Amino acid sequence: MSSRLPGFYRLGIAERRRRLLEASGLPESRLAAIDPGALSVEVADGMIENVVGTYALPFAIAVNFTIDGKDALVPMAVEEPSVVAAASNAARMTRPLGFLSEVAAPVMIGQIQVTHVDDVDAGSTALREAAASLLEDARVLVPRLAERGGGPIGLEVRILARPPGPDGGMLVVHLHVDCRDAMGANLVNTLCEALADRVARIARGRPGLRILSNLTDGRTVTVRCRIEDAALAGEGLGPDVRHAIASASRFAELDPYRAATHNKGIMNGVDAVLVATGQDWRAVEAGAHAYAARTGAYRPLAVWRERETYLEGELVMPLAVGTVGGALHSHPGARLALELAGIDHAERLASIAASAGLATNLAALRALATEGIQRGHMELHARGVARAAGATGELVDRVAAELSACGDVKPDRAREVLARLKESP
Ligand code: MEV
Repeated sequence: MSSRLPGFYRLGIAERRRRLLEASGLPESRLAAIDPGALSVEVADGMIENVVGTYALPFAIAVNFTIDGKDALVPMAVEEPSVVAAASNAARMTRPLGFLSEVAAPVMIGQIQVTHVDDVDAGSTALREAAASLLEDARVLVPRLAERGGGPIGLEVRILARPPGPDGGMLVVHLHVDCRDAMGANLVNTLCEALADRVARIARGRPGLRILSNLTDGRTVTVRCRIEDAALAGEGLGPDVRHAIASASRFAELDPYRAATHNKGIMNGVDAVLVATGQDWRAVEAGAHAYAARTGAYRPLAVWRERETYLEGELVMPLAVGTVGGALHSHPGARLALELAGIDHAERLASIAASAGLATNLAALRALATEGIQRGHMELHARGVARAAGATGELVDRVAAELSACGDVKPDRAREVLARLKESP
């Protein structure tokens, strides 16, 4: 399967769907999962409370991705113009090597808080001594996970406050759980709830909160890519663009105000994949930003370095995702997204989402560092306004070109231009 679908963006939707089926090998009937109304109100009503309807987003495919030696069609659900185009363009520049990833074991952290511990040192020693037995208690609660090679694997104790204080001495137990292909929130929460009373008794304190941590710093993914100068820019401009992108990276490394925007550009790609595949993107967002700030300063999740004749990028971030459970039970579009991308386990989903993030970061830095991002945005915006005014086929580009040229990208103007072009084509 090749993810190189040249000119995909120029095709009409029907033709794009045909090419997508050809590339993915899926039967036409599967695309019903992203047709309007595919998520029925009845199913939606079973997902959340107080449902009054469903809410749609554009569903698109970012092309050109090769990840760990295998091409992937990358599903994206996102409202922002230019994210899909940016990801596809950047992915093309990284070929033929593409993105290379390393995914850590899917270990989540559950937290059990214990308050009013008079002797936090004795309490933590007692908990460490009981760790093996507590883990055994936890393991019997998740036999199916253990059969799949996962389950509770470690227990750590941290002292958070010594008495006196409003909560007395405070400890927290971290339960490390290998969740395999599940995101794991439910699993981890259940285990923490089940162990909390025994943990508090051992520490001679009171049980407090029992809930997973979204700072999943053990469940990280690292993605790297390189772009040769010639792929970065034509006409011998490659080295200049390479310097400019490396300098933009250093800016983000030195300044949290810039790092926040730099990371937003990464999350453009990551979140679009997470939304399309039915993931808890808020959990990933929370983890990403906490991880970015883990040294005490807010830092970029991805950095770019210059080598002899190429640019090298590396993204490291926590990515708690699952290919079983969650919204995948009920959301037909999310299940199709996994199929289109050939994702059969959580590790591959993490690699794909992170690669999309490194790609959108690269595209943003390249645009910012060179011609300025506004032009590309305006072109896409102009096409959207042209379509909304009723332009179809080749008229979309012609109306958009006129709107961009006169700098007046407004619906009224688009209708005027369209009427004129229709009268005298
Ligand atoms: C816009 O959605 C994202 C950017 O601001 C990211 C960046 O500045 O790196 C373009």
